[in-house]
Amino acid sequence: VARPYLAAATALVGGAAASLGVVLLSDVLVTGLPPARLDRTYAAECGACHFAYPPSLAPTATWMGIMDHLDAHFGEDASLDPGAAGAIRAYLAANSAEHVDTLAANRLRVTDEPNSLRITATAAWQRMHQDIPARVFAARQVGSRGACNACHRDATSGRFAPQAIELPKGVS
Ligand code: HEC
Ligand code: HEC
Repeated sequence: VARPYLAAATALVGGAAASLGVVLLSDVLVTGLPPARLDRTYAAECGACHFAYPPSLAPTATWMGIMDHLDAHFGEDASLDPGAAGAIRAYLAANSAEHVDTLAANRLRVTDEPNSLRITATAAWQRMHQDIPARVFAARQVGSRGACNACHRDATSGRFAPQAIELPKGVS
């Protein structure tokens, strides 16, 4: 009679370990996918003037460089109150390219352009877009190289899957 109990106990422990494993994996983001949604403060503050870049598109060093110079942010004053700035720093550091296993994160994790805080200035970004003529980025429906979401339908999720690439209508 001891056997069925033992089996049941083993199944229970196994089940608990399996669900614990799932929880741990989703917490440390080793499942290959960025979190489903952007942090709300981040999306509101850093999506006010342009596409809110998923944190997985740059390493922590780049994000901290951006946060250190918000008063002179690419010609704009993007300063934040200390509370919001602190929360956004922590969010970026915890979800940067070092923590995510997507093709975009794996390529953009290494920046060889230390003086530029642009994602679009990295050699990796330029290589991936080398066949796209400048007029495509300048087109009214796109606007700039940094308007990832104009051409990548899944840009907000941070996945950048090849199947989700689509130039806006009328652009070629
Ligand atoms: C007041 C407007 C404004 C706000 C707010 C703002 N930005 Fe920007 N950001 C800009 C402008 C303007 C550019 C340069 C756009 C260009 O030249 O194409 C830029 C560029 C960038 C780039 C470089 C894009 C590229 O070309 O690779 C990053 C990264 C970025 N911003 C991150 C942030 C983050 C993070 C926040 C929030 C803390 C933020 N921005 C808030 C105006 C803003
Ligand atoms: C004008 C449209 C356009 C914009 C804007 C744009 N991309 Fe792309 N992107 C493309 C196209 C088209 C390709 C495929 C290029 C090829 O295969 O030669 C691509 C490829 C990529 C890839 C590789 C996908 C793969 O699996 O091979 C990544 C990652 C990527 N882009 C990220 C970005 C990021 C990040 C931004 C914004 C900072 C951005 N792109 C802005 C059009 C765009």
